[in-house]
Amino acid sequence: MNIEECIKTRRSIRQFESGSLSEQEIKDILSLAVLAPAPHHTKPWRFVVVSEEKRSKFADAMGAKWRLDLLKDDIEEDTIAKLLLKSKEKIIAAPTLIIGCIDKASLRHYDDASKDNYEMIMSHHSFGAALQNILLVANQRNLAAYWISSPLYASQESQEVLNYPIAWKAVAAIALGRHKNNFEPPKRQQVPINEYLHWAS
Ligand SMILES: Cc1cc2nc3c(=O)[nH]c(=O)nc-3n(C[C@H](O)[C@H](O)[C@H](O)COP(=O)(O)O)c2cc1C
Repeated sequence: MNIEECIKTRRSIRQFESGSLSEQEIKDILSLAVLAPAPHHTKPWRFVVVSEEKRSKFADAMGAKWRLDLLKDDIEEDTIAKLLLKSKEKIIAAPTLIIGCIDKASLRHYDDASKDNYEMIMSHHSFGAALQNILLVANQRNLAAYWISSPLYASQESQEVLNYPIAWKAVAAIALGRHKNNFEPPKRQQVPINEYLHWAS
């Protein structure tokens, strides 16, 4: 599959055959993630592979934080319980779950909060590029994958329960696995490029 075909056919796929990827497959994919562009040649991304045994505790820790956030928004307990259950099911159902983090210790620091903020923004840009590498290589290898943003909202809880270095801030997770037998690639709508484009002349 060439790169254009790979970009065009990549989709977020949320249904999997059971069975995690092998350690070698995970390493091969992450070895391509870390070829993403990064500001000042830093390498801000880190990855945490969450074992099946840790999934429940991980989902509960994130859920506890999310519950507090939802209560602040006056969401009813019944609705909260349903949302948390759905989120936990997604975390548990992922055959392979990889959390992507940004290592704050790897970023440049200045005596200027605004400059530090730009460094953090740039590291997020680089993170997105790294995660896109994962999604593309997954597609190229005929694997199913999708992005899960919940760790962003519970970075501290995630670190505490999974015990990785404290400077690693969880930004997102990626669920990866093999396609179901009856997998049909979803059709993509044509993107009307002119709606996203301004020629400055
Ligand atoms: C920053 C970001 C956060 C996302 N968070 C989630 C998520 O929490 N759960 C989910 O199912 N998909 C998530 N997605 C996937 C999007 O829903 C998906 O990319 C979008 O619907 C377009 O579909 P496509 O990826 O098939 O082109 C996220 C994507 C991005 C880039």
